[in-house]
Amino acid sequence: MIGRLNHVAIAVPDLEAGIAQYRDVLGAKVSEPQDEPDHGVTVVFVELPNTKIELLYPLGENSPIQGFLDKNTSGGIHHVCYEVDDILAARDKLQASGARVLGDGEPKIGAHGKPVLFLHPKDFNGTLVELEQV
Ligand code: CO
Repeated sequence: MIGRLNHVAIAVPDLEAGIAQYRDVLGAKVSEPQDEPDHGVTVVFVELPNTKIELLYPLGENSPIQGFLDKNTSGGIHHVCYEVDDILAARDKLQASGARVLGDGEPKIGAHGKPVLFLHPKDFNGTLVELEQV
């Protein structure tokens, strides 16, 4: 059901330092920061030959990643994103298997303009999983 790894998202406590590290030290192609007010994050896309890394930084008062950064003060891997062909079919199959879909269970439009869902980390070995329909 799942296809390619679309991205790994890393929460960073200092966005400028994260950008400089990936661009200047690791030599990767790094986008301009993009504010995503609907998701409470500022995102920077790091393009790798086979996938992407997304650096996430809190935006606004109730950012969903603030609590994560409070617990992980050096930052950390926040989620992985797998591609699916049909997000509603994937959701229904996962829910039938007992996996929990976060929020109201309806896909939202993610940072790439495509429908996404998040799956409860306790159902996936402690890893927050994002599904993106491509
Ligand atoms: Co993501």
